[in-house]
Amino acid sequence: MPVRFRYGSFTLEEKRVRLATAQGCPPLWVRLDRKIPYPVDQVRSITLLAEGARLFIKVTAEVPVATYPPGAEPDPDRTALRSSNMRILVTGGAGFIGSHLTDAFVAGGDEVTVLDDLSRGRPGRLDPSIALHKVSITDAPALRAVVESVRPELICHLAAQIDVRVSVDAPADDAVVNVVGTVNVLEAARAVGARVLFASTGGAIYGVDAPVPTSEDVLPGPEAPYGTAKYCAEQYLGLYNRLYGTRHAALRLANVYGPRQDPAGEAGVVGIFCGRAFRGERPTVFGDGHQTRDYVYVGDVADAFVAAARTDRPGVWNVGTGHETSVRELIDLLGHASGRDLDPEYVPARPGELQRSALANDSAARDLGWTPRTTVADGLAAVYAWVADGSPDRAGR
Ligand SMILES: NC(=O)c1ccc[n+]([C@@H]2O[C@H](COP(=O)([O-])OP(=O)(O)OC[C@H]3O[C@@H](n4cnc5c(N)ncnc54)[C@H](O)[C@@H]3O)[C@@H](O)[C@H]2O)c1
Repeated sequence: MPVRFRYGSFTLEEKRVRLATAQGCPPLWVRLDRKIPYPVDQVRSITLLAEGARLFIKVTAEVPVATYPPGAEPDPDRTALRSSNMRILVTGGAGFIGSHLTDAFVAGGDEVTVLDDLSRGRPGRLDPSIALHKVSITDAPALRAVVESVRPELICHLAAQIDVRVSVDAPADDAVVNVVGTVNVLEAARAVGARVLFASTGGAIYGVDAPVPTSEDVLPGPEAPYGTAKYCAEQYLGLYNRLYGTRHAALRLANVYGPRQDPAGEAGVVGIFCGRAFRGERPTVFGDGHQTRDYVYVGDVADAFVAAARTDRPGVWNVGTGHETSVRELIDLLGHASGRDLDPEYVPARPGELQRSALANDSAARDLGWTPRTTVADGLAAVYAWVADGSPDRAGR
């Protein structure tokens, strides 16, 4: 567990920093391995972190939040979000979405800590200054100890068993992580008065008969234990709000895709197709390819969490584009992005798959001021570029 030293005043130079305490102890000069990536006048605070034999400095700066997709010109609208310097714990923060979210919070000036059991997460996805606790949300005492030491104001709860097929094969194991683990997070949050923002699913919570695009007032009818567990966890959030007057909220994510994604999750198809296209292999399509999904770019999802964190409203919001994209359209777009002639191989449909899915996002636009900005064509091009670049862990910020 890292030890933190806060410094009341500091002098920043290109390759070193002078730290001085308010109590008048002698100042400490620290030589930096690399240049601080912010202009000096944007830096608001500096903390020295000691973890074992390693020393880091954590720099909090007031800067515009990250822009997506990578390589895009800075968008002046996004500079409206400013530092609020919240203490935030992200469970599952070493995962695909969680690591993008930690980057967005760090860029917004928040103090971020990650808790992840590293079953699927990778420390390499994280900014090296972020403290990482390797703990499972199923270990309630260990989870609580971390939460009590960090004392976050907000917990973004993304740690989960995310594989729908695993949930069908082992529903009890799925429920232990996705239901009991979430209750453990709620109890730990209650101990320190933290608000919880929960990553629920919009792609796997509504039933086959739901109108498309689906709004939040449609009664969920999940088709697999994964969606059932997420819905159950949402119900616990609502219960805690009623019992304890908390302001917990859930974001129902559509099919999230982007750089850093392992190809096994709900929307792994984008990463899989990009990988096959890059290697010159044929993409495999289950069914006739006319089935649709709502593909939302990971940078837009991170923005939705940041918006929900800043509003402090309880609620349940869909986070999707509202648009359906078929597998055939995805392959056409990828053909353009990769400049390759893709010739898909069609195999029999997998049983139990939804034919259509898209999430209405009017509530998030109205309550959170959030709308997605990245088109599927642009997002797909960003993922293809990431795959072609060797799929680096820290790409795509
Ligand atoms: N990717 C999507 O399309 C999508 C869609 C809807 C909802 N979600 C939800 O968003 C969240 C993040 O998903 P992701 O795609 O980034 O998946 P991911 O697997 O990359 O991230 C999940 C993280 O949780 C960690 N984790 C798993 N079990 C844990 C445990 N018991 N204790 C602590 N950490 C644990 C994993 O190591 C991993 O780092 C999940 O809650 C998922 O259900 C994702």
